[in-house]
Amino acid sequence: MAIVPEDLKTGSVFLNDDGELVIIDQTQLPNREEYLVLRTKEEIYDAIKRLAVRGAPAIGICAGYAMYVLAREKASLSPEQFMKEMREVGEYLNSSRPTAVNLSWAIKRQLGVIGADPSRCAEEQIDLLRGEAFAIHKEDIEMCTRISEYGLTLVKPGDGILTHCNAGPLATSRYGTSIGPVLLGKERGIDFKVFADETRPLLQGARLTSFELFRAGVDVTLICDNMASMVMKNGWVQACFVGCDRIAANGDFANKIGTSGVAILARHYGIPFYTLGPTSTIDMNCPTGNDIRIELRDPDEVRSMWYKEPMAPEGVKCYNPSFDVTDHELVTAIVTDRGIVYPPFDVNLAKLFA
Ligand code: MRU
Repeated sequence: MAIVPEDLKTGSVFLNDDGELVIIDQTQLPNREEYLVLRTKEEIYDAIKRLAVRGAPAIGICAGYAMYVLAREKASLSPEQFMKEMREVGEYLNSSRPTAVNLSWAIKRQLGVIGADPSRCAEEQIDLLRGEAFAIHKEDIEMCTRISEYGLTLVKPGDGILTHCNAGPLATSRYGTSIGPVLLGKERGIDFKVFADETRPLLQGARLTSFELFRAGVDVTLICDNMASMVMKNGWVQACFVGCDRIAANGDFANKIGTSGVAILARHYGIPFYTLGPTSTIDMNCPTGNDIRIELRDPDEVRSMWYKEPMAPEGVKCYNPSFDVTDHELVTAIVTDRGIVYPPFDVNLAKLFA
């Protein structure tokens, strides 16, 4: 049985006292707060694919726990067979979504732990996987806290902050990344005015960001994505804070579709534009944004999902990329757990890992 550290027992992904992998089903929010226990590799794959668990760091935490939970079924295998099957599990889970680097990062990290000495018996390897899964989760809490502290230095009380998609506690562990400074500020009596893009087509901004901020008592205004320009022009936005799914070595980064448009608008109106993310989201093996694989999703998410009846002719062509890449030239700074990184990003991101 897993003894779960007290501070890791909550959030959108965690192990319960029976050692089971539990997630909040983010597809049900804000109307229902439902928890799911994920037992099989197919259930975990499906939960990631349909965004029941989503947000780059949360997917990474989920994958870390998944490798432990799924390893337990293999306790009676020989060391060689155990390693072989765990590599297969890792490959399978990694194929659920391509863009967020945290998924492959966490799986690689777990495979590295057991791969360090493949001759260990399965029981020993399982203990190590559990410890590493807790470490991934705990580190994310620490990283988000530091990102939130750094982010808070970039704005002043009363500022308007525009955000896109959801990079709050649901997408991470605690505080989140892009809305971390707002939540941390709230705890300290510092108030901001947040404009949350609804984030078509899956409405992470409407369903999740406005839910998290509203519940925390933050002054949040929900806008349709195409209202961001108006809100900026009105002078209501002093900074844009967005999350990221993969930051390339040159500072280009992938985030929810629509993010690059926000960056272009911000440049037009002279508003600083920041992406906030943990170092686990920086992929130094990915030279530029052109090397990031962008997930394409079901066209029905655009045509008919969320509507009582389809809002487009049946069978009409539809393009549904889940992410876009923001050019590093549009980014004022990248806020990481190791500090705020300014251009030139190719030089300064490398320094973080030196
Ligand atoms: O498709 P999603 O909802 O997983 O996309 C999530 C985002 O784009 C987030 O901004 C990103 O993962 C950062 S979460 C801290």
